Amino acid sequence: MFRRLSDPEKKVRMTFEGQDITAQEGESVAAALLAAGITHLRQTPVSGHPRAPYCMMGACFDCLVNIDGVSNLQACVTPVREGMSVHSQVAEKDLLHEDG
Ligand code: FES
Repeated sequence: MFRRLSDPEKKVRMTFEGQDITAQEGESVAAALLAAGITHLRQTPVSGHPRAPYCMMGACFDCLVNIDGVSNLQACVTPVREGMSVHSQVAEKDLLHEDG
């Protein structure tokens, strides 16, 4: 679906769900994952439907991921870093419910 116009010149190695990903230095995590054919970055807390990066500029929050153990990070505005470990984010449905 998405592809780079050229191979990465300065490669950065990272993983998504344990899968090795080669990214271009300076690109965002979302761009690297899309170029690797990965579009499903998170699930909605209400329906559990998969979501993909949409705006690519930090406005829609459809690209939330967990990076190196930190949740709720926007993949589209987070630059890739050597050795980073990225995981899909599955929201906790119970956080939306009020007590009582
Ligand atoms: S893709 Fe919209 S905030 Fe990241």
